[in-house]
Amino acid sequence: MHIDNLPNLNDSTQVRLFANVDNKPRRWSVGRHWRHYAERYFISAKLFEVADDAPEFNGRLNHAAFGQSHMSCDEPRHLLEFEVGEVWLINSAIVAHQVRGGDRLCSANYEYPYGQCMSRRETLPYMIREIASRHGFPPLQAKQSLRRLLPFLRSRAA
Ligand SMILES: [Fe+2]
Repeated sequence: MHIDNLPNLNDSTQVRLFANVDNKPRRWSVGRHWRHYAERYFISAKLFEVADDAPEFNGRLNHAAFGQSHMSCDEPRHLLEFEVGEVWLINSAIVAHQVRGGDRLCSANYEYPYGQCMSRRETLPYMIREIASRHGFPPLQAKQSLRRLLPFLRSRAA
C-alpha cells in the first residue's frame, strides 16, 4: 500500500487514467483518503517539519503509514477488480492504493497546476496547510516560502 509521491506535487496535481488491456481483471486495493493518514501521523512522524514540501511530506507519510515495505500493512482496504477493457481515473497522490494482480496496463497522466483546479481546498498544499493549522502550526514562514520559490526563479533566470 502506498500513496504516490509525484515529483511536481508542490506545483501541480495529476489525474492518472488507466485502462486494463490484460485478458483478465486487474486487482487493486484502495485504502483511505490521504487526509486520514496525514492527520494520524502529522505529529508522530514529524510531518510538520516538511509541511512546506509536498513530495517530502508524502515520502515521510508513506514511510510512517505503510512501513518499509509498500506491499503490506494492516490498514483496512477495499478490493477492486477492473474488468478487461475497463478504464478508471485516480489522483494517486491522495488515495492509498496497491496493485494486487494484473499484468498489462495502459496509462496516461494529466497534470494540472494547482492554480487551475476548481477546488483548491482539495489540493495537496492546501490540505497540508489545513492540517498544520489545526495542529497549531503557523502558516509558512517567509524563509520557507522563499526556499520553495528559489528553484522557480533560478529556472526563469537561466
Ligand atoms: Fe502507485
